[in-house]
Amino acid sequence: MTVKIAVSGKGGTGKTTLAGLLIANLLKTGKKPVLAIDADANATLHETLGVVPETTIGDLRETTRKNIDQIPTGVPKETYLELKVQEAVTEGDGFDLLVMGRPEGSGCYCYVNSVLRKYIDVLADNYPFVVMDNEAGMEHLSRRTSRGADILLVCSDPTVRGVMTAGRIAEMASEEDMNVGRMYLVIGRVPAGAVGLSPAVQDAVARTGLELIGTVPYDAGVEAVDIAGGAFVDLPADSPAMAAAAEILERIT
Ligand SMILES: Nc1ncnc2c1ncn2[C@@H]1O[C@H](COP(=O)(O)OP(=O)(O)O)[C@@H](O)[C@H]1O
Ligand SMILES: [Mg+2]
Repeated sequence: MTVKIAVSGKGGTGKTTLAGLLIANLLKTGKKPVLAIDADANATLHETLGVVPETTIGDLRETTRKNIDQIPTGVPKETYLELKVQEAVTEGDGFDLLVMGRPEGSGCYCYVNSVLRKYIDVLADNYPFVVMDNEAGMEHLSRRTSRGADILLVCSDPTVRGVMTAGRIAEMASEEDMNVGRMYLVIGRVPAGAVGLSPAVQDAVARTGLELIGTVPYDAGVEAVDIAGGAFVDLPADSPAMAAAAEILERIT
């Protein structure tokens, strides 16, 4: 059984950070291999993982579309694409990374897209955990992957407006028949030393109807790793953000 965790929310709320922290925790607790999927066109998840991807599914889609006639004869197109999806995987220590890359342009990509999606799903089934980082909004969850997430974590910053936005994103996710299993709210970048969320933010959380599954404190260590270009697995054991992500994982899995 594969547990697929997707992270969504508006820009700058700490989605990529949360996805990276979740993956680092899964690796540290031996819950591997993890398949990390970066579904943000402006891919940054690899930076939290300390690997450099060479290619993306978007590049693969473009080159296949342009050279569809040059696929070696005798090789079924599907088999060819399945191999290409496997080649697009960047291998890390305990995890693999798939970067979706640029979004589909205009023109008919139907065949190539549907085959690519199928083999991304086939690939994902080989992992106990899949963690997907999305770009702001929800459209990519439906458009880029054929199957919904088991758990959708909607990120917000600790503001009323942020939480209301998260509520709308969650609403869209349930309306659009995305096949999302469970949905939770995560509030990230909570100022260090804050005794909790403000009453106004707590009220906003209640209005969304979402369960707040955890908060992630602002962590200078995370910022330091980001500045140094390191990986989150190298964060110190007492990192508050890592501990917060560990608690979230505990609650959702
Ligand atoms: N808990 C945290 N502690 C410190 N810095 C954080 C934390 N969460 C996010 N950041 C910083 O905030 C910025 C935006 O975070 P990011 O995860 O890239 O957001 P998103 O993916 O939602 O756009 C990054 O520079 C990141 O380092
Ligand atoms: Mg991001």
